Amino acid sequence: MNKNNFAPIADAMQKYSADGALAFHTPGHKQGRGAHSLLKNLVTAEGLRQEVSLMEELDDLHSPHSCIKAAEKFAAELWHADDALFMINGTSSAIQAMILATLKPNDLVFVPRNSHRAVTAGLILSGAVPIFLPVDFSAELKIPLNVTASTIRRAIKKFPQARALILTSPNYYGVAADVKGIAEILHAAGMLLLVDEAHGAHLQFCERLPISAMDAGADLAAQSTHKLLGSMTQTSMLMVRKNFVDVDAVRRAASLLQTTSPNQLLLASLDIARLQMAEVGREKILNAIELSQHLRAEVEKISALSTFDAVKDFELDLTKVTVNVEGAGLTGIDAEKILRHKFKVQCELSDAANLLFIISYADDDAVISKLVDALKSMSKAQCVRRDLMRKAQCVMRNDFSYQMPAKTPREIFFAESEIVPLEKSVGRICAEEVTFYPPGIPILNIGERITAEVVKEISALKKIGNRALSDADFIKVLV
Ligand SMILES: Cc1ncc(COP(=O)(O)O)c(C=O)c1O
Repeated sequence: MNKNNFAPIADAMQKYSADGALAFHTPGHKQGRGAHSLLKNLVTAEGLRQEVSLMEELDDLHSPHSCIKAAEKFAAELWHADDALFMINGTSSAIQAMILATLKPNDLVFVPRNSHRAVTAGLILSGAVPIFLPVDFSAELKIPLNVTASTIRRAIKKFPQARALILTSPNYYGVAADVKGIAEILHAAGMLLLVDEAHGAHLQFCERLPISAMDAGADLAAQSTHKLLGSMTQTSMLMVRKNFVDVDAVRRAASLLQTTSPNQLLLASLDIARLQMAEVGREKILNAIELSQHLRAEVEKISALSTFDAVKDFELDLTKVTVNVEGAGLTGIDAEKILRHKFKVQCELSDAANLLFIISYADDDAVISKLVDALKSMSKAQCVRRDLMRKAQCVMRNDFSYQMPAKTPREIFFAESEIVPLEKSVGRICAEEVTFYPPGIPILNIGERITAEVVKEISALKKIGNRALSDADFIKVLV
């Protein structure tokens, strides 16, 4: 079987559909027969015909033995892992599975403060105790950096009994940690490295990008195949290195967190994304890097805008292009709105100072040149909110220095709490996480003491139009 031109899950679905078995089973649309025309237009008649689940020929996500097993094996080989799990509840569930599989209640785990809220959920589920680690913010580039090897060394010295580090690398802006160096430090101390590699599924395909977590020696890596490669939104892969991790425990945890009705189209899309990368990954990712560098060169010609292709002391994923718009008298959030509504260009993320553009394997010269034209026009737009371009630049707090929390996230989640107005919450212990999305990093995490400074920062972020996941006017605090 040549894995470079074969997608086992997609193939099994086509065969099942072609066999013509009459449907007396879920889903209720019965292979599209009952589907509304809107749904048919959306998914296509063929897509609906193949949208069946749990048939013997289609394998079992919870105990793969045929087509899913083959597809996962191909993926593991391509991403240099010992095993790969297909995840259809997002990278969030892959992260939670990594945590549940490796950490028990009261185990200490290092958590850099730039971690996604999925990590908080994993801590609540597992009962593990986070030691939050500081992550620097670049005052020059106005973006969060990553955790350093020396921070990890310090943390290990203070808490030699810790079990693992949950590292996010690269971060949303493409700033990567020294994953290889950190893996060596952790393993020498008998600790595990779990990597949230949501933004790194493409790293494997070009040496000009930061090293992938698996190649760097990580034990587990949760990758958003859907974010930077070609699978459907919500689909991810969990990569496993067997040396220090029990693969069965990882599979049990993943199974616990995944639906019992896996959507076959989502699974097939993971399989096909893997096939696509096996076929053209290297050439396409190299092209994305070249397009990104061309975009940077063009941005630098626009006097009001600036960008960068290197970050001091860290490696950068070049396919993430951050454009600072302050010189145009705009906040990133305003610039995003102008780009979207005046020029029909949508970026991935905006913050107080920047726009972030993801250049993927799907892009070409024509779209980059449209983006450059739009940026040129946008940079001339009038300043609307100069007064708001100040403090609210860091959706991440940094005043955490290797402290053991008084209560675990799990204890706090189940403890007695009350809802109070944000401005009355100063001094209280936060019993939820307050997160702006993107980037999905809690500005206030469960268990943190609420300061006047963070209340001011939340208000400032709301004022410039950042979107909070929960209603940040009121906040849940411990009684
Ligand atoms: C760093 C990071 N980790 C995890 C996630 C969660 O991934 P998903 O949305 O696939 O659940 C995201 C999503 O934005 C992310 O940015």
